[in-house]
Amino acid sequence: MLAEIISQNVTVIQSISDQLKTPHPTLDDTYDSGSKAEQLTLHPEVLSSAFLAISAASQLIATLKLPGLSLLDRANCFHIPSAFRICLESAVAEILREGDPDGVDVAEIASKSGIDAGPLERALRLLATHYIFKETRPNVFANNRLSSMLDSGRSSATVLALGQRRDKPIVNGITNIQGEKYVGTDGITALLEQNADEVYKASAYIPDTVLSNDWSKTPFQRAFNLEKSIWDFYEEYPAHLQRIQIAMEGFVGVRPQLKLLKGFDWAQLRAGSLLVDVGGGNGSESYEIAKKAPHLKIIIEDREETVKQVTGPTWQAHAEKKSLLDSGRVSLLGQDFFDAQPDDLGKVAMFFMRFITHDWPTSDCVRILRRLHAAAAPDTLLLINDQVVPYACPTPPSLIYPGSWTPDVPSPLLANLGEASAEVYFIDFAMTALFNGQERTLGEFKEMAEQAGWKIEKVYQTVGSRISQVVCSKI
Ligand SMILES: C[S@@+](CC[C@H](N)C(=O)[O-])C[C@H]1O[C@@H](n2cnc3c(N)ncnc32)[C@H](O)[C@@H]1O
Repeated sequence: MLAEIISQNVTVIQSISDQLKTPHPTLDDTYDSGSKAEQLTLHPEVLSSAFLAISAASQLIATLKLPGLSLLDRANCFHIPSAFRICLESAVAEILREGDPDGVDVAEIASKSGIDAGPLERALRLLATHYIFKETRPNVFANNRLSSMLDSGRSSATVLALGQRRDKPIVNGITNIQGEKYVGTDGITALLEQNADEVYKASAYIPDTVLSNDWSKTPFQRAFNLEKSIWDFYEEYPAHLQRIQIAMEGFVGVRPQLKLLKGFDWAQLRAGSLLVDVGGGNGSESYEIAKKAPHLKIIIEDREETVKQVTGPTWQAHAEKKSLLDSGRVSLLGQDFFDAQPDDLGKVAMFFMRFITHDWPTSDCVRILRRLHAAAAPDTLLLINDQVVPYACPTPPSLIYPGSWTPDVPSPLLANLGEASAEVYFIDFAMTALFNGQERTLGEFKEMAEQAGWKIEKVYQTVGSRISQVVCSKI
């Protein structure tokens, strides 16, 4: 049955590829987001079929692999981020792009990177075994479709010069990264590095937190031996603040299928309406909204220090963003979202929050949402832009809102498509690791919103992505 699902869905992909005269990319290709082959992978039918085939293939592997080895692999998969960080911080993808396309000897890569060849070779082989990089001859490695995504496009010398300061000792596990490395990138390497560094180290302390029932410290605080909150930590270490803010762009960038999301129609808001981007960070999403909806006024709110250190400089340094500020269409405001919104804000048409609720435990989210409720007019909308976690069983009809993506999943696949949706559950744990936060099911969103006086009206989702827009109105 599983093999049949794989075969049927691969046949669908093959026939669309034939119709469009565009071959599907292979692992040996280089990733190029603009290529026709990569565009084919985002065709809605190709995406849907790929999800079913991936789900069936993972379930087949889980069935065929000896159970003990299957478990051992999973209990050890935390070594992958270690190998990842070694390669990312050694500019391996850039060195391979600059070298012989048939591969570069690991001794040469290591000498350019300034690290020992032995551990680098083993890191590369571990990754190559997981289809990231390929070993073309013994000890000779080349980029492939996955590893080429790690290539920043800059020279390896630049990446190494902007990389972690190796002359400084690492204290309490806090890496000496430099923020400039991430500026001007698409955020994907920032995201991957942050996951393989802070998130990975903190994750080791999730069980200690859960099993002790002591949430007074986050796993992150335990891992790095810190009393201060993570947001205070970021402000003390501006390079880490820069990295997490730019990583937010990568969080979207690794899901190019999000471009298919039609989403909330901004024309529903009248000309001159005010949108407040609550915890807007470096304002990357506000910038997208400002381009799509030139009739709106936008205020980007964030912690005062973050606006000073990141949002302000980011917008002043970019010509179009600066002109949006100068024209008054976009403004920046230091505002703690646990405090009451300013009295002179004016009428707000929409409070917009991207990747905020997943940073906080539910009780804190309710406090934030109540503050927004108190500042909202009767027709103010609240748009929560976060991942919606699918149940591993079918979603009850009472939780299917207009706009929900509810794929038709054939038996015996898991209702959430199993490993085809793995990233949602990994990011959920990442939120716990860093913030005591979590991603939420629609049932949890509903309960949380209602506790703060909001009700869900509509959910915008698209094939292949769980990053959703949950639109609420006042109860
Ligand atoms: C995960 S980031 C998301 C940023 C932005 N919304 C985006 O999608 O790119 C979370 C943001 O919440 C902000 N934040 C954390 N605590 C805050 C607080 N108490 N008041 C306002 N903003 C806060 C952080 O500074 C950070 O910019």
